[in-house]
Amino acid sequence: MPIAGIYGPDDFANRPQGQHQHEGQITASPRAAPARTKPTLPTPSLEWTPEVARATAPLYERVKHVIPPIEWPLMAPTIQAINELKRARGAVILAHNYQSPEIFHGVADIGGDSLQLAVEATKVEAGIIVQCGVHFMAETSKLLNPDKTVLIPDSRAGCSLAASITGADVRLLREKFPGVPVVAYVNTSAEVKAEVDICCTSSNAVQVVESLIAPTVIFLPDRYLATYVASKTDVKIIAWKGACEVHERFKGEELRAFREADPSVQIIAHPECPPDVLAEADFTGSTAHMINWVRERRPRRLVMITECSMADNVRAELPDVEMLRPCNLCPHMKRITLANILESLLTLREEVTIDPALAVRARRSVERMINLKN
Ligand code: 13P
Ligand code: SF4
Repeated sequence: MPIAGIYGPDDFANRPQGQHQHEGQITASPRAAPARTKPTLPTPSLEWTPEVARATAPLYERVKHVIPPIEWPLMAPTIQAINELKRARGAVILAHNYQSPEIFHGVADIGGDSLQLAVEATKVEAGIIVQCGVHFMAETSKLLNPDKTVLIPDSRAGCSLAASITGADVRLLREKFPGVPVVAYVNTSAEVKAEVDICCTSSNAVQVVESLIAPTVIFLPDRYLATYVASKTDVKIIAWKGACEVHERFKGEELRAFREADPSVQIIAHPECPPDVLAEADFTGSTAHMINWVRERRPRRLVMITECSMADNVRAELPDVEMLRPCNLCPHMKRITLANILESLLTLREEVTIDPALAVRARRSVERMINLKN
């Protein structure tokens, strides 16, 4: 069914001023801070030597279909240095599916979608987690590992969804709809997670909404994911006017053009896309669900309606799938680079910190989601 209502900053006359986060900015309170535990290490040699070539040859095998050989000597010394430093520091690197192939296949220990990264973060034994993704992902890892050092190589890596809503907005929604449970997409700040009943990701959004056994649920902040969830459940959905700046730009007509040019083409899309885009897709799912769909179906030609690097990461693994690329780059994800991952491991910056009282409440919302039975 269609969503039952949609609200945004302009719908609350009594909304506190000055708290709204603008696109690309992130919260002021639970911010990254310098780590204190271990000293800065000297920058290692970043020369392309026969030894580096030998040591990184197995990694190049993984990315040879998406990184030209001429570019590898520019990346390999930094990749080698990061992998050595990881061991020296006792660190683990978590990378989202939208990280570029040299990061995703070259230095990450664990890759995945938001749900996989959150679940894996609960199992990490290393004392240091380097989060290659955006700030809300690093905050989620910190919530689940309060005693570990969680680093993000560039704390300006925000998200237009996380920036669209504050904790005060959630309190105003609760006043307007007393007793209605609130689900927050993990693409939110810890401050927002602290105000809601449970979190969800695009992998489990319908399951989370239905787990609440309520006739109506407030689902925030992504209006398009909310619309998608509403189309899959009988629960009435009240949405927030947030959107992903990457996925909202796709258009149904561009997908129709691909299909007209080649009717055999397969199209898969992320549920953060507008409804006219999802209407053209053969499959809709989270980044992990999309990857699994490609692994199982092995389509000859594929249009992946999501962030560009994911198509590269999938093609590195499945070179026989021809990718047509109407992709959009996420500028926040692209703030993470080999150079700042290396810097992060050398200096142990920037450390993600969250106010402990707020973290207790935010952690509860994330853990409720993780503990949901399948
Ligand atoms: P996934 O949970 O599907 O990986 O999505 C996260 C995200 O930010 C998509 O834009
Ligand atoms: Fe946020 Fe969209 Fe970037 Fe995902 S792709 S991190 S939802 S801005």
